[in-house]
Amino acid sequence: MRTQVVIIGGGPSGLLLGQLLLRQGIDAVVLERRTRDYVLGRIRAGVLEVGFVNLMQEAQVGARMLSEGIPHDGIRISYDDELFRIDFARLTGTPVVVYGQTEVTRDLYDARDAAGGKTVFRAENVQIHGANTDAPHVTYSEDGQIRRLDCDYVIGCDGFHGVSRRTIPQNIRRDHEKAYPFGWLGVLSQTPPVSEELIYANSERGFALCSMRNPNLSRYYVQCPLSDQPGDWSDDRFWDELRRRIPPAAAETLITGPSIEKSIAPLRSFVSEPMRWGRLFLCGDAGHIVPPTGAKGLNTAASDVHYLYQGLLSHYLDGDSAGLDNYSADALLRIWKVERFSWCMTNLLHRFPEQSGFDLRIQRAELEFLHENEAAQMVLAQNYVGLPY
Ligand code: FAD
Ligand code: DHB
Repeated sequence: MRTQVVIIGGGPSGLLLGQLLLRQGIDAVVLERRTRDYVLGRIRAGVLEVGFVNLMQEAQVGARMLSEGIPHDGIRISYDDELFRIDFARLTGTPVVVYGQTEVTRDLYDARDAAGGKTVFRAENVQIHGANTDAPHVTYSEDGQIRRLDCDYVIGCDGFHGVSRRTIPQNIRRDHEKAYPFGWLGVLSQTPPVSEELIYANSERGFALCSMRNPNLSRYYVQCPLSDQPGDWSDDRFWDELRRRIPPAAAETLITGPSIEKSIAPLRSFVSEPMRWGRLFLCGDAGHIVPPTGAKGLNTAASDVHYLYQGLLSHYLDGDSAGLDNYSADALLRIWKVERFSWCMTNLLHRFPEQSGFDLRIQRAELEFLHENEAAQMVLAQNYVGLPY
């Protein structure tokens, strides 16, 4: 078989790029290792930047997101007995939209079905051949049969553990990594959110986050040791710990219920450079990871999609390959700024095992400065609502 673009990975970045290309008449096949239900069962990000929202609309898959997504004009930050608000509307004029990654992915799969885009699920042993030649191809097995797809370009949207990044030779790649000494335990529950806006809490017992998906679906996180397993945390233990980390007024009104999902994610910062090798391009988590503090993972995948889409469009429609040639440099310029922001937010809000008394006082001074200083709030707000593409 032959197609113009092979997209490896049917997560949000692969599907969004596929949909944008399909609408322009550019043929793209998506190869996904898992089943659709498995992909839709993963509970991940929940906050969308305006750039993401615009891309969904450009791909003509924004209708449900616009009607069911909840615009948020600010977030709350708490530390010790203090609570303050970062007012995105006043500081930037731009809201973020709360709409879960699961729903984004569902909308993209539905649109792909409707447009007749080809998706291969359970594609096993995907391998990229000749990425650094003018005639790349991809092999995979489907129901035990080995298949071959010839193409112009291969896009690696296959996440951190995918095959695409590993296809780029070690002597070409520079990987930069920082692992954090804790994880996030996340719980989804069919209960009304404790607050109308997200609360990011720095407490002496560790970080906590109160988020949501809709008026009857809450998403909460607590910082936990990396050695913990979800099974170590009964629902009661989780709710008790959350209550002890969030502002007392929120703790008193928190409505609890059975968890419908509970998982632990390690925190990591990671960037692999360059994001292009010949005709192979990395996009989203395949090329970089941020710790989730600041809600940037999914949004940064979308900014890659933007640069790649523009590059492919200019190439196929105008024969101009400058966008593709500059993709890695353009995408990385923005990615490193987002890495910086996510690292800053992680340092500001978590308790680190090796933190000295001095480190703690510096962290508190930083929170106090942010609390009282509008310029500092502006910097946070601009980064949170999303840097321009
Ligand atoms: P992915 O969503 O990882 O999609 C990659 C796809 O490729 C997957 O469907 C996978 O099955 C498929 N694949 C992998 N290998 C292969 C292969 N060899 N062949 C074919 N297909 C393959 N971000 C936030 O902003 N907030 C959060 O709260 C948050 N929580 C997270 C929790 C976890 C556990 C993880 C892992 C990530 C979280 N993120 C969060 C980050 C965010 O979800 C990601 O940035 C986003 O999913 C990136 O999208 P993607 O399409 O690039 O990669
Ligand atoms: C969510 C996750 C985040 O990492 C974040 O910063 C905000 C919200 C969420 O899952 O809702």
